Amino acid sequence: MQAKFVVLPGDGIGPEVTRAARRVLEAVASQFGYSFAFDERPMGGCAIDDYGDPLPQATLEACRAADAVLLGAVGGPKWDDPNAKTRPEAGLLDLRKELGLFANLRPIVAYDQLIEASPLRRDLIEGVDILFFRELTGGIYFGDSWLSDDGSHAGSVMEYSVGEIERIVRLAAVAAGNRSNRLTSVDKANVLEVSRLWRRVAARIMADEFPDVDYEVVLVDAMAMHLISRPRDFDVVVTGNLFGDILTDEGSMLPGSLGVLPSASLGDGRPGLYEPVHGSAPDIAGEDIANPLATILAAAMALRHSLDLEEAAQAVEAAVGAALDAGLRTKDIAAGGPAIGTTAMADAVVAAISREL
Ligand code: IPM
Ligand code: MG
Repeated sequence: MQAKFVVLPGDGIGPEVTRAARRVLEAVASQFGYSFAFDERPMGGCAIDDYGDPLPQATLEACRAADAVLLGAVGGPKWDDPNAKTRPEAGLLDLRKELGLFANLRPIVAYDQLIEASPLRRDLIEGVDILFFRELTGGIYFGDSWLSDDGSHAGSVMEYSVGEIERIVRLAAVAAGNRSNRLTSVDKANVLEVSRLWRRVAARIMADEFPDVDYEVVLVDAMAMHLISRPRDFDVVVTGNLFGDILTDEGSMLPGSLGVLPSASLGDGRPGLYEPVHGSAPDIAGEDIANPLATILAAAMALRHSLDLEEAAQAVEAAVGAALDAGLRTKDIAAGGPAIGTTAMADAVVAAISREL
């Protein structure tokens, strides 16, 4: 088994957490006898500094030729000037669009070992295991947007085509079929025409192609509430780009820390893009205290979804579980107790991989 990873360390803590994930992938390769190649490329704020472009053409070409792309995080105060020509985030949006990554999978799993780190009560979140499918290349993020010449009006349009809705609903429904057979579609059909189309198309796909999946629709404002009051009632959730952006940040508080949440962005073909849900955390960059587990778990998703190496993916997930079982915690999940650093956490996961196999 040979595979080529492009690594986009990005900004802030991105280089530290991708380094940790890369070490874990190298450990997996040596355990299972795979051959993984890694190609690091600039993207985000650092690429603006060096090339005047958050997604240089050479980086994009390298990504297209990869089996999987592992991204750290982009952005930081240095590039926050609202009048700047371009921003690091623009590079991320372009990369999603250029690679056709229309499905963003965000698992929200409440690890039993970390429940005390959550701001919510144990009885609410114990056993939470939700898989969000956020549409990623359409909706208001990519609709027409304008600012009037005199600067007094602006608009951003939320648009979806039937085809865009069909493909994300299908993927989510297939995933639901492989899990507990429940799918929730989230929209704002009581107000938005685009949501009424979403709801009609989703209902048709579900009735025609997935009649056995238990399907429900929930309005986005109500979903914001249910996610906190009864998160265990949800299994697979599918929604549009903006609603998914907001709900997954909300959901990320269920496990107690953003530091353990990975995400995968998939299209029709190769490659997939894998990244932690957290951002670049510039305030703690370079201190070796960031939690690398989200990026390590994103690497596990890459093994599963882009390389079809389910066994290896599970080995990584088990190794993360073993490190948590051993009581190892980075600062963000230590709840005030003793904490280890980024490198030490990666060491523990690497050691657990070789121990378990
Ligand atoms: C995310 C982020 C991005 C988004 C930003 C950085 C453009 O919030 O991946 O959720 O809004 O999609
Ligand atoms: Mg977001």
